[in-house]
Formats: sequence, C-alpha cells, structure tokens
Amino acid sequence: MSRIVWRDQMSIGIREIDDDHRALLDLINQMGDLAQPETLDRAKMADCLLRLIRYTRDHFNREEQLMASVHFPGIAKHQKFHDTFAESILSQSQRFVDNPEAVTACSVHAILSDWVLRHVVGADRDIIPHLGTQIPVNTVQWTP
Ligand SMILES: [Fe+2]
Ligand SMILES: [Fe+2]
Repeated sequence: MSRIVWRDQMSIGIREIDDDHRALLDLINQMGDLAQPETLDRAKMADCLLRLIRYTRDHFNREEQLMASVHFPGIAKHQKFHDTFAESILSQSQRFVDNPEAVTACSVHAILSDWVLRHVVGADRDIIPHLGTQIPVNTVQWTP
C-alpha cells in the first residue's frame, strides 16, 4: 500500500491546519498499513476508524472556524464537503461494526486517500487568497 507523503504544495500556510492535514495523512497511512495481510488486525482497524472520526470532526471545526474568521465566501459549500465526508466515514465505521468482514482496511484506505488528496490539495487551498493579512482565530498560528 503506497504511503501518502506530505508535500509543500499541500500547505495552506496556517500551521495548525497544515499540522492537522499531516496528522490526517498519518492516520490514513496507518489504515494503509493495516491493509497489509500480515498486519490484519480488526481491533486496530476499529481504533483507527474511531481516531479518524474524532480527528476529522475536530479538524473540520478548526478549519471552518478559520474560514468564518476570514469571511471565506465558499464556506457553505465547503461545510457540505466536510459533512459528506464525515457521513461517509461514519457509514464505513457503522458497516464495520455491523459486519467487520464487509469493510476492509484496503477499501477504507482507498476512499480516504482519494478524498483527502483531492480535498486538501483542491478545496482547502481555495481559502488561501482570502487569508490576506487578517488575523485568523486566536488558536491558529498565522505565518504570512
Ligand atoms: Fe482540511
Ligand atoms: Fe476542508
């Protein structure tokens, strides 16, 4: 399973959001590691899914807070992207709880890596022109 490597082109220039994205890539890579037959471990997969649910929820909140703070005009559309993805992860997780054999780490990894790469490199970077010199929410490190 190929690992996703952080590239500078993924950066939006806000340290806290970039750190979130790195952590998400790490969780997705961990899911990829679980897809290897020799490391197949349902308990670890359940744990990884739970951490993904929690981390994406916290990250989406942080990112939407930043978008609101700079009056990003695409925030409503962006929130829909987040909601759709969160529902997708929850639904995969529920399927896994209902029938662990029906959900593989490989299939979850494929969904996650495809979405995160497109979303982080695409939609998340749409905020960059709107950051300007405004001071984002106080929890976010601003590095102009
Ligand atoms: Fe993001
Ligand atoms: Fe986003």
